[in-house]
Amino acid sequence: MAKKLYMVSLGPGNIELITLKALRTLKNCDAILVPTKSANNSFDRSLTYKMITSIQEEFGFTKDIIAVYTPMKFKQKDWQNQVDIINNSLEKYDNICFVTLGDSAIYSTVYYLLDIIKEQNEILYNNSEVIPGITSFSNASAIVKKPICIGDVGVKIVPLVGYDVPSTTIYMRPKIGMDTEALKENGEMFTFENLGLSNSTIYPNKKKIVEKYMTLFIDFVKGAK
Ligand SMILES: C[S@@+](CC[C@H](N)C(=O)[O-])C[C@H]1O[C@@H](n2cnc3c(N)ncnc32)[C@H](O)[C@@H]1O
Repeated sequence: MAKKLYMVSLGPGNIELITLKALRTLKNCDAILVPTKSANNSFDRSLTYKMITSIQEEFGFTKDIIAVYTPMKFKQKDWQNQVDIINNSLEKYDNICFVTLGDSAIYSTVYYLLDIIKEQNEILYNNSEVIPGITSFSNASAIVKKPICIGDVGVKIVPLVGYDVPSTTIYMRPKIGMDTEALKENGEMFTFENLGLSNSTIYPNKKKIVEKYMTLFIDFVKGAK
């Protein structure tokens, strides 16, 4: 049986904001890999661990928990060490979840690890799945009842690193029939049409003419890591 790796987004810290898909995936797996910033693998300061414990209690299941030391120093050797823990876990278990807070698309370790896995173990990469979640800023917006963007305003997400950074751009709310010629491509553009519907299509490029209102384009920045 093929080994499976799920990268599961847990949402912004309140267990009620986990998705059904994430919950089902956690319930069906053999073990959960939980990041910790403590070098001794303790979970004393880990919000992620607290969430996993509460989710298990609330939904009545228990899984083996494996600590993954995640020092957040952006060092290749640390990510490799985390991938080694994933590989070692897959020797014992068939189906594992690596969990992350918020949504994995937003500043998460998940993609550093997947990049290494893609290079070193293509079979596992192809057998991996990323489960999205609610971001911290979606939650913050809902709490204060203020939209992040509405009408004719956009939104910028800026890492406070002290220097100019390249950005991914998301284009939404196109008009049907619109020619996308004018959308300048800076990175790698994808077109997502009717996501979640039965006629959903994903194009690994910029579709020339918009056919559906439910279309979004993401210009994924290159060299984002
Ligand atoms: C490494 S990023 C992870 C973001 C996460 N993947 C998401 O979808 O929100 C961590 C940053 O997200 C923000 N963040 C995440 N959870 C938060 C929370 N519960 N409250 C406030 N800010 C939070 C903070 O800016 C924090 O420095």
